[in-house]
Amino acid sequence: MSKPYIYITRKLPEEVIAPLFEIADVGMWEKEEDPVPRDILKKEASRATALYTMLTEDIDKELFDLAENLKVVANLAVGYDNIDIDYATKKGVYVCNTPDVLSDTTADLVFALLMATARRVTEGAEYIKQGKWKHWSPLLMVGHDIHHKTIGIVGMGRIGEKVALRATGFEMDILYHNRRRNIEVEEGIGASFTSFDELLSTSDFIVCMAPLTSETENMFDNRAFQLMKSSAIFINAARGGVVNEEALFSALKNKEIAGAGLDVFKDEPISADHPLLAFKNVLALPHIGSATIETRYKMMELVTRNILNVLKGDSPETIVNDELLN
Ligand code: DGY
Repeated sequence: MSKPYIYITRKLPEEVIAPLFEIADVGMWEKEEDPVPRDILKKEASRATALYTMLTEDIDKELFDLAENLKVVANLAVGYDNIDIDYATKKGVYVCNTPDVLSDTTADLVFALLMATARRVTEGAEYIKQGKWKHWSPLLMVGHDIHHKTIGIVGMGRIGEKVALRATGFEMDILYHNRRRNIEVEEGIGASFTSFDELLSTSDFIVCMAPLTSETENMFDNRAFQLMKSSAIFINAARGGVVNEEALFSALKNKEIAGAGLDVFKDEPISADHPLLAFKNVLALPHIGSATIETRYKMMELVTRNILNVLKGDSPETIVNDELLN
């Protein structure tokens, strides 16, 4: 019987993928930074039993139809909006993601963005490097307090909970909005469930952690930004598509909000001349929420284990379309 074939869509460290070679033939895209071109992905998918994918690839109907032997798509991300889940389920293909292992790391980055935006950290650093600092002065680079303010978290999943936990250290009032109430976070750390509109109009920091779905796409639109306080800071570390970027641009231009910290964008990479990047009060990062050496290794190892489990006939550790397990 021929061995299964696993295709990995980015060059990854050898030690992480070594276990895969024990049970399968393995192909891997040769570049670390550039995504695999679509035509190569299509060719590889057509013979693959397992795909080890990144969030940069569209795993859509066309690809599933080509991939007749495919048993599992294991994505190196907790988000899976790049994969047509319904179609995968229809085709009986497991879709796996990397929840939990990245929650603390991503919540740390949310706070880094929040603090840096509120306290103008990168702006201040640039100010010095450009030789602009002449004297200490009472209102130089004044920002906004974080402690004792109100944080509003939209999307109270695993990462949202970790953000809320960090907010307790700053003695913040914690509001959240989610599809379902999260009693643990209410009873455990005193977060209060509110409507989306109430959260927007009363929070000092609005943190978007909602996954991108047909319901959440563009949920931060003109109306949403207009409801925010003019002193509010908006943070997005979920997916760019949840925000209407033109609406965010006009909110910043018209000073309807005080700033934004963004780790994700509708189109990634965002171009250096994108109008949003021209604002001093926008801090933008290149989608690095889970990017620590420890966490990226945990994520890669989890993807490897998920593929191994499926190819050995066991259940994956973390599956998105778990209806296939019944
Ligand atoms: C995810 O996991 O979905 C992040 O966006 C990348 O770590």
